[in-house]
Amino acid sequence: MYEFIQKAHSGFAYLALLLLVVAVVNSIMGMSSKKEFTFKDRKIALFGLIGTHTQLLIGLILYFVSPNGLNMIKLSGMGGLTTESRLLALEHPLVNIIAIALITIGWVKHKKLITSESKFKTFSIYYGLGLLLILSRIPWKLWF
Ligand code: HEM
Repeated sequence: MYEFIQKAHSGFAYLALLLLVVAVVNSIMGMSSKKEFTFKDRKIALFGLIGTHTQLLIGLILYFVSPNGLNMIKLSGMGGLTTESRLLALEHPLVNIIAIALITIGWVKHKKLITSESKFKTFSIYYGLGLLLILSRIPWKLWF
């Protein structure tokens, strides 16, 4: 069970990040070229949202079955965590949840906006911040 979920989380991370990067680049390009926000732009942003939400779901399950998640905190206590175990058990999950909350807020906000410029701007800010937060807490050494 653990190995399967861990591999799924590790593998799906490529797709989730790719979809998010595409959504951020598309919104920045849309904003700077002042083009109209179309159905295609909405779809690109929606895929970014779905990708991160799917990764969140797999991550939440992983947190409870992995020896590097909640079990690590239970075994060593907060004070006993090393830099590496703190990244996996605390910083990575917490910062990613905040990042995905920001991405979700961006999605909800864009629906209430009317102009194309404001929609692209909202996605650029919220999805962009979400992406930066996610990238700041990826366990790169473990992943590659
Ligand atoms: C878009 C969001 C996320 C991305 C891109 C992401 C990506 C990753 C990556 C690349 C790894 C290393 C995988 C490997 O060992 O090959 C990892 C590990 C891990 N992630 Fe995430 N993650 C995300 C969200 C979350 C969330 C929200 C949680 C928990 C609530 C979580 C929990 C974990 C745990 C516990 C590990 C360590 C797994 C282990 O070694 O046993 N992740 N994540």
